Amino acid sequence: MRPIILFVVVVVSLLGWPSAAARRAARDGRADAGLQAWARQRDFYVGAAVAMQPFKDERAYQETLKREFNVCVAENAFKFDSVHPAKDRYNFAETDALVAFTQANGMKLRGHTLVWHKQLPAWLTQGSYSRAEAVSLLKDHITTLVKRYQGKIWAWDVVNEAVAEDEAGLRKNSFWYQKIGPDYLKLAFQFAHEADPNALLYYNDFSAEDTGRKSKDVYNLVRELKRQGVPLHGVGWQMHVDGDFKIKPAHRDNARRLAELGLEISITELDVRMPLPLTPTAATRQAAVYRDVADFCLRQPNCKALVLWGFTDKHSWIPQVFPGAGDALIFDADYRPKPAYATLQQSLQAAGTSAPKVTSAALNGEHLTVRGDNFGPGAQVLINWKRQRTESDKQSPAALLVRKVATLINPGRQVTLQVQNADGKLSPEYNFTLQ
Ligand code: G3I
Repeated sequence: MRPIILFVVVVVSLLGWPSAAARRAARDGRADAGLQAWARQRDFYVGAAVAMQPFKDERAYQETLKREFNVCVAENAFKFDSVHPAKDRYNFAETDALVAFTQANGMKLRGHTLVWHKQLPAWLTQGSYSRAEAVSLLKDHITTLVKRYQGKIWAWDVVNEAVAEDEAGLRKNSFWYQKIGPDYLKLAFQFAHEADPNALLYYNDFSAEDTGRKSKDVYNLVRELKRQGVPLHGVGWQMHVDGDFKIKPAHRDNARRLAELGLEISITELDVRMPLPLTPTAATRQAAVYRDVADFCLRQPNCKALVLWGFTDKHSWIPQVFPGAGDALIFDADYRPKPAYATLQQSLQAAGTSAPKVTSAALNGEHLTVRGDNFGPGAQVLINWKRQRTESDKQSPAALLVRKVATLINPGRQVTLQVQNADGKLSPEYNFTLQ
């Protein structure tokens, strides 16, 4: 029998948005839908670095993360000294907690960072190891961490800040460079890929976003790694900037030449530090920088994510390192949105939505669970002509539950699913047979 194409309009509700009101708000362009509600309609990820102390202690911290972001990264928890405090001891308490949180809230998670010259434990830096022993330690660390979270880490910053700041080429003041030599980068990416072949593997750095000397060195590094067939998928642009920052043609040129290597980019650590105290005029200037960077990333085809280095001024690394500067993020110390929040939302709203993608649909008992990307608030699933009541699947927020759908679709029938987002953009058709 010709597969019967059945349609029913089902409203998609995803726990990523706290309520139907938020979905309506997003559809009507009102402010009370989180930033991630807009990102999800655009095949885009907006996120923040997570400090584990407030994550554990402050209710508003997790609530804001859940409402606003669809990708997270640990500010410190995944770093070598935190997760591997002794040669034969790992500490996964904080990393497990963050993985569980992102899994429970349909969020992606970036792994930061497997190999860096900073935040290394004394047992490593003060030990005396041969090259072979150092390679073995590197492999053990990467394999243990990446395998543990296989399938739960979207992208790893495999190597962070390996290019020198004030001279050409690789930085020499790195334990890994000194013990293993320049090949440590290639080995690190290969170990990570073996441990999780599906994870995106990034090289991450700062002050290498335009076409200056350091950017050129990063470009040459990743081009050589790609030439050697090293599994490398993206370059992270940290973007710790100040209120004078502006996106220039050089940024687009750099993004383009990386795309020509087949590489994606992500803005991985954006914050915009300002002189304290932050005046309303300065807050407006800061908001313009956030808008400029977000517009750039949303319009640059190979720019996949915009991740801030924190999200509330109450918890930021900036004041400890830049005396007299701070208030670099989009929520103030009382978790109230600043002008930069509004300009980020405007940037997301202005960016055209992407066609939704249906990634899976499963019938369990008499209800149907549909998963996908780019649904966004107010998206609808078309199956079987009739509108159904829908609930969020409590177990997996990034999914919808359609009850009693089986009674409408005789078992054994081919069904075609499509998702239509609030802009009317339709997904490709997804065929499956109801058992
Ligand atoms: O964990 C110890 C704690 O036991 C001790 O009591 C406390 C007081 O000394 O220090 C704690 O370690 C601190 C660590 O953050 C965890 O909170 C270190 O002193 C502190 O230096 C470290 O700062 C982090 C910094 O990386 C280290 O270089 C910042 O929080 C973090 O935001 C920053 O993040 C980096 C990215 O990973 C890479 N790109 C640059 C970015 C900013 O530096």
